[in-house]
Amino acid sequence: MNIMVVGGGGREHAIIRKLRENPQVNTIWALPGNAGMVPEAELVSIGATDLDGICDFAKQHPVDYAVVAPDDPLAMGLVDRLSELGIPCFGPSAAAAQIEASKVFAKDLMRRYGIPTAAWEAFDSAEKALQYLEACDLPIVIKADGLALGKGVIIAETRESAREAVHSIMEEHAFGKSGDRVVIEEFLTGPEVSVLAFTDSHTIVPMVSSMDHKRALDGDKGLTTGGLGTVAPNPAYTPELAKRCMEEIFLPTVRAMNAEGRPFKGCLYFGLMMTPKGPRVIEYNCRFGDPETQVVLPLLKTDLLTVMQSVTEERLHECSVEFSGESACCVILASPGYPGHYPKGIPVRIPEEVRPFVYSAGLSEKDGQLVTSGGRVLGVTAVAPTLRDAISSAYEMAETIDFPDAHMRHDIGQRALKALEK
Ligand code: AMP
Ligand code: GLY
Repeated sequence: MNIMVVGGGGREHAIIRKLRENPQVNTIWALPGNAGMVPEAELVSIGATDLDGICDFAKQHPVDYAVVAPDDPLAMGLVDRLSELGIPCFGPSAAAAQIEASKVFAKDLMRRYGIPTAAWEAFDSAEKALQYLEACDLPIVIKADGLALGKGVIIAETRESAREAVHSIMEEHAFGKSGDRVVIEEFLTGPEVSVLAFTDSHTIVPMVSSMDHKRALDGDKGLTTGGLGTVAPNPAYTPELAKRCMEEIFLPTVRAMNAEGRPFKGCLYFGLMMTPKGPRVIEYNCRFGDPETQVVLPLLKTDLLTVMQSVTEERLHECSVEFSGESACCVILASPGYPGHYPKGIPVRIPEEVRPFVYSAGLSEKDGQLVTSGGRVLGVTAVAPTLRDAISSAYEMAETIDFPDAHMRHDIGQRALKALEK
């Protein structure tokens, strides 16, 4: 079995390592992958959005299965194109990927099918958006419509900053074409929970819940990042809430996508907020989360390839997907300055005994040495019987990595621990 994994970050490394547990897996090609994935994967220097290049590679190599992990190639239709070539894939079609690629599409879907989310309005002119802001409640949330690397969301505390947000998204095009339309929505409060779910468009199987830490600095301060650490499970996600989410959100979403003629097959990511009025959808992603995957997949007991293939073949109901009852914590080491400007080329040394716990994201090789090449450089994941032990073990391992001036948060999991001790 030879598998192609499209994407190059920590999430893809976690997918690759899990796929490797299956003894039938021979070659795994990572397109483009990164240097820290070797030898678990063979790197192929074709970018994740080079659809022609990827399809040519697939035609020239004995690819038995493909996993498309990032949002861009999914939204661009890579799964549709590979499927046309006869290659079985894990990931949604372009039509189904709209659930992430357009916030207006997602919000409209939720409105039409009664799926609970923040109240909202969409605007395609800055003038109308600005008018709306004059009378709305504060704080208010302003989102660019399209894909914006998780950065197209602004929470405005004052009317002035709300106006600035509309100005920067719609008139200065801070997020490019993503900002031709904006969604302006109600500010919600409550614990946030990420739930990734396998679905073949008939059955939906939620994975263990997790908690992301999106802000750059301790205490959830600073700029929004791609995520600087995760824990799983998320203590805010009680069995009672899980049941409500299944009935009020997960199943209705799968049914809504079918009714729209856009059956979703792959990993559907629910970004949820547990508000005083019940669970609400903050966002959908059409893919595994990063760095949620780095804590969720290490807890998966069932063979990942088997589950993925059952999704592709629409027989997920035959699969019993099991998770260990343990806890996991992932701490991200980022380049100094991230998410702003950061230098590249800093040498990184990972002790041999820690490597099995490291998921690399932004590493390249130079003169036989690993050096940084991205914002989020690597994640260290520990699994333990308790969350407290998982957190200390992840930090202990992170300390052994020689990465001068690495930026990391020191409080990953602390909020979850407090919630557990309540
Ligand atoms: P998104 O990219 O839509 O997940 O938004 C990024 C982050 O902004 C979320 O993880 C939340 O922390 C926050 N956020 C988004 N929408 C809202 C909302 N309606 N109310 C409060 N916070 C929000
Ligand atoms: N960690 C958030 C995301 O993957 O979008």
